[in-house]
Amino acid sequence: MAEKLVYGHIGSKEAMELEETYGAHNYHPLPVVIAKGKGAKVWDPEGNEYFDFLSAYSAVNQGHCHPKIIAALTEQAQTLTLTSRAFYNNKLGEYEKFVTEFFGYDMVLPMNTGAEAVETAMKLSRRWGYDVKGIPANKAKLVFAEGNFHGRTISIISASTDPDCRKGFGPFLPNIEKIAYNDPQALEDFLKENHAETAAFIVEPIQGEAGVFVPDAGYLKKCYEICKKYNVLFVADEVQTGIARTGKLLACDHEEVKPDIVILGKAISGGVLPVSAVLASKEIMLTIKPGEHGSTFGGFPLACAVAKAALEVVRDENLTERAQRLGEKFRAEMEKIDSPMIELVRGKGLLNAVVIKPTEGKEAWDVCMKLKENGLLAKPTHQHIIRFAPPLVISEEELDKAIKIIKDTIENMV
Ligand SMILES: Cc1ncc(COP(=O)(O)O)c(C=O)c1O
Repeated sequence: MAEKLVYGHIGSKEAMELEETYGAHNYHPLPVVIAKGKGAKVWDPEGNEYFDFLSAYSAVNQGHCHPKIIAALTEQAQTLTLTSRAFYNNKLGEYEKFVTEFFGYDMVLPMNTGAEAVETAMKLSRRWGYDVKGIPANKAKLVFAEGNFHGRTISIISASTDPDCRKGFGPFLPNIEKIAYNDPQALEDFLKENHAETAAFIVEPIQGEAGVFVPDAGYLKKCYEICKKYNVLFVADEVQTGIARTGKLLACDHEEVKPDIVILGKAISGGVLPVSAVLASKEIMLTIKPGEHGSTFGGFPLACAVAKAALEVVRDENLTERAQRLGEKFRAEMEKIDSPMIELVRGKGLLNAVVIKPTEGKEAWDVCMKLKENGLLAKPTHQHIIRFAPPLVISEEELDKAIKIIKDTIENMV
């Protein structure tokens, strides 16, 4: 007999079959169906409860269905949703003032997805390179770090070093250069030779998709200084690390680095709508003129209302400090786990990873399957790394329960 449904009218088995049959197979999800979310928890259609330790890849920092953000969404949805940028609207300017003051930048260019914001930063960097730095036409180079993840468009995967992201999608963009991550000397060596034609160094302060790879202390600062020495823009992709996740508003704040361009996405809307943003100085931003870049939805009134509310939640609920404090506790507790499967614990704030040593044929995927059975959802990145990134609103009591699930699960794996 089919299990009784608590949420919605489609059970887990049917929901998975529908996706498998009618949707492109471009993901490999953990076999769990989520039908409802509240704060740090989610439920499947049958009513089973789980801690969400992925937070939609750090988009749901403010917790699922935060009442303040949902109130802003529903109120604005009944008033005005989309105007396009052919006209002014009465929400965009107010949001732009708010978001630029919030992060301390002159201007913002609003987009929708993270990848679009990265694309925007790439275009903006090139344009600055030509108009301000004086790079000869069509010669501008952009430098990326190996192991990066910035999204899925053709120009972004041109910068990728991950064969899964690139295979069968060439040809790629020219003048995209790659240097070793966590190696300021590699940047120095590259720019020594190529500074005249290089517009920007685009980097994640912590490489999230690579497996929460935290660079050595001082890396960002050194890279920033090298960029300044050679008149190259330092561009931080904070789509995953930004907005309180790592225990600072931006991960670059850990090293008191103020990037020339900051790329934000995911949590800027609290996971409610696809909203992204590129922040920069006037000197950089105003190189793009009317008609030269944009998006129908970028800066739409609904997004503006939601993003403003989502950032207010980060501020009003002190999510930065919470992430810092709870992250320290989380890592300390992970270090105590007594299992040959734990190789390494790393992270900042509530963006953490446990590196798993495959033991008795069991890999990170098997651990995640067991965690799911025990009521906690996390996703492996690569075969041997599990990212743990709960919503930042998780209570200390909930975190304690989640830590116990992770500890018991891993200690009983082998
Ligand atoms: C650092 C970083 N940049 C960009 C992106 C792309 O964002 P989106 O999936 O919204 O296009 C991601 C997504 O995981 C990311 O982690």
